[in-house]
Amino acid sequence: MRRLVQLDRQFVWHPFTQMREWLRNRPIVIAEGQDAVMRDIDGRKYLDANASIWTNLHGHNHPKINAAIRRQLGKIAHSSALGLANEPASSLAGKLVQAANRIYDLRLATCDSAGKPACESQIANHKLAKVFFSDDGSTALEAALKLAYEFTRRARGKSARRAAPAKFLSLAGGYHGDTVGAVALGHIDLFHQRYSGLLFKTGEVMAPYCYRCPFNRAKPERADAREYRRCHWECVGKVEQRFSAQKRRGNPYAAFVFEPLMQGAAGMIPQPPGWLRQATDIARAHGALLIADEVMTGFGRTGLAAAARDRRTSPDDSSGGHGLPLQPNLFACQHEGVRPDFLCLAKGLTGGYLPMAATLTTQKIFDAFLGEYEEFKTFFHGHSYTANQLGAVAALASLEILQDPESIRSRQALEKTLHDELQTLWGLPNIGDVRQVGLMAGIELVKDWRTREPYALRERAGIRVCEAMAKYGVLTRPIGNVVVLMPPYCITRAQTRRMVAALGDSVKTVLRA
Ligand SMILES: Cc1ncc(COP(=O)(O)O)c(C=O)c1O
Repeated sequence: MRRLVQLDRQFVWHPFTQMREWLRNRPIVIAEGQDAVMRDIDGRKYLDANASIWTNLHGHNHPKINAAIRRQLGKIAHSSALGLANEPASSLAGKLVQAANRIYDLRLATCDSAGKPACESQIANHKLAKVFFSDDGSTALEAALKLAYEFTRRARGKSARRAAPAKFLSLAGGYHGDTVGAVALGHIDLFHQRYSGLLFKTGEVMAPYCYRCPFNRAKPERADAREYRRCHWECVGKVEQRFSAQKRRGNPYAAFVFEPLMQGAAGMIPQPPGWLRQATDIARAHGALLIADEVMTGFGRTGLAAAARDRRTSPDDSSGGHGLPLQPNLFACQHEGVRPDFLCLAKGLTGGYLPMAATLTTQKIFDAFLGEYEEFKTFFHGHSYTANQLGAVAALASLEILQDPESIRSRQALEKTLHDELQTLWGLPNIGDVRQVGLMAGIELVKDWRTREPYALRERAGIRVCEAMAKYGVLTRPIGNVVVLMPPYCITRAQTRRMVAALGDSVKTVLRA
């Protein structure tokens, strides 16, 4: 056992970790996992309350995903996508396109037969039709960024190209990964500013953060700030202002990049219902492409309740109100009827098993890269492990589980259990805001809920609370003062209760107002 700890200390550099602090403590060394529980080398058990950094959907050691990988291992683990196709990746691309376009199936189902052809041709322009595979969330964004850049350059023609390069607009607090292009799109100073010398400039616009919004005139209450906010949608107005100002400069934004419904690394900051639709409508009206970063929110994380509410049906209505069997929205954009030109997926794509990512885009973008060999219109971009077979079979198995009625029912139940359990936290004076979207939540720690006064980062409030939670056998990581709860979907009711209770007890012992 000590040897394993020693090996880590001697050789491993951990991500987003102050290694001096790390080296002072004995690390938890994970040896195995089953469902929502992981076990360390000393035999201690822990609930995986952040789904292994937001990746794991169905739990560890899932028999269906294990079997799919084993079957594929008996055939081949990997062959290059440069010049070769493979069966699992092609099937997966088809299934992803189908799941992403579900919004259009619903729309078509509501068109009468006379209106159907018009409906279909309108939809054809927006449908996601092609999948570019890569390895991680960051690379999914890099691909979207480069495709959007080059598409715009070609669409604008020679004179505009010489004048100014295509510009991107993204959200304050946005996080899109750690490769240089993705960092340029991000706006978290702590992570991004020190690399500014390496980056190209992108526009930044206010993102909704109802709890700390300067335009929210409501006094603090013991409820999610989105529910009691008093404002005039100034955050939407800011989006309009940014697009108009950039247009006046003669180089309109080429694309709008956003995390839909919930900004993760910003501190689990949810958008009030309707913001996403309004902001993206503005972007579209200004001719910008939409790049939806669903690296965190994809694959059912944003839950079922919103979908059911939007369609004015009960989640129990197996037809979804449209005569189609109920297949819930798997993507956040679908909850508000937003149709992106790029849909970036990673993390949960393989159910949390293997690093794989996908950038979905439209036929129109794809066609702009078609040409004869010597025209060199090719998308010059790719990675060695692109379209990896093992990742693809894991992803196919994960998608199948996601669409299984039993999984849908248990996600529905988890969403409600999580909601009910989170209500118990409002009694604690050091909890300022509890923000749940579907099957994930951020709990913001404050010095006093009445004043919303934050802890200084050096007080390490979030870290100390999470360390205490680990002693209760619950593992998660904070984002500053925000504790993230994002368990695998297979977590039981009792485990959910234990996870939230561990947070409440840790807040009481560590922060004691
Ligand atoms: C919204 C979002 N985009 C992109 C990324 C980057 O993903 P990866 O760490 O897989 O590169 C993350 C990671 O947390 C994310 O939350």
